[in-house]
Amino acid sequence: MHVAVMPKESLELLAVRPDGVYIDATAGLGGHTALIAQRLTTGVLIANDRDAQSLEMARRNTEPWAERIRFHQGTFGELGQALAEAGFGKADGLLADLGVSRYQLTSPERGFSILADGPLDMRMDQSTGMTAADLVNHAAEKALADLIYQMGEERRARKVARAIVRARPIRSTLHLADVVERAVPRTGRLHPATRTFQALRMAVNDEPGELDRLLQAGPELLASGGRMVTISFMSLDDRKVKERFRELGRAGRAEILTRHPLQPAEEEVLRNAASRSAKLRAIQMK
Ligand SMILES: C[S@@+](CC[C@H](N)C(=O)[O-])C[C@H]1O[C@@H](n2cnc3c(N)ncnc32)[C@H](O)[C@@H]1O
Repeated sequence: MHVAVMPKESLELLAVRPDGVYIDATAGLGGHTALIAQRLTTGVLIANDRDAQSLEMARRNTEPWAERIRFHQGTFGELGQALAEAGFGKADGLLADLGVSRYQLTSPERGFSILADGPLDMRMDQSTGMTAADLVNHAAEKALADLIYQMGEERRARKVARAIVRARPIRSTLHLADVVERAVPRTGRLHPATRTFQALRMAVNDEPGELDRLLQAGPELLASGGRMVTISFMSLDDRKVKERFRELGRAGRAEILTRHPLQPAEEEVLRNAASRSAKLRAIQMK
């Protein structure tokens, strides 16, 4: 069973009402989904993810509360449709636990892993769109360098892009990790290909565009008094959330419930190292 990040904090800030309508935009393996569903009586939870395999696992992991959950496969841009399909106009709360899950990151066949060999896929939804292999083997060197620099915050992006283009065709995750490591030797604790993998994953799944759509559309789906809670793991994401929430606050549309982002307690980080960089922010619609 997947361990939900910041479970206590996210539930407290969502302030789940037993008869409310909730959206878990990123059901993953169902960690938060289960926690929210447990608190519902007549309420309904829409559990969304763009990854069909994860959604299937979430379904299995939340079986005891199945009658309160409606599963939906889709992107952030499709949450309005998911809500309408479930028969509701507005929701009382929306949770988004951003990024990829540990399951996705560590399953070699999904292609996110830097440590185990697999195909260069990296699509959260494997039924559609370009793969990491398409990007790595076909994008122009300058476009690759730009995306590795911008999305991976990799200062040595030009060197990495040049090495990738020279090594084409790149066939697998470990092949790519090796090409990058040879081009930019390790300087710190991070594997030298970490930032490149992060950038490719973000580009393949259009994560920046998806987050923009979530931040635009999410608040519109909420009833007055409804709450939106986000958990980000990357500073680029947290910055965007902060700015959008501030904008809603300034416009008098929402109250910011977290002046500073909440971070996991030391005890949670010891138990679950993946929670280390989590930042939680919340608003309540007026
Ligand atoms: C950090 S995991 C969520 C883990 C989950 N909260 C749990 O407790 O099991 C993030 C999930 O969001 C999904 N996801 C990321 N971006 C998405 C998007 N734009 N639309 C829909 N799902 C997305 C991923 O497929 C992944 O399963």
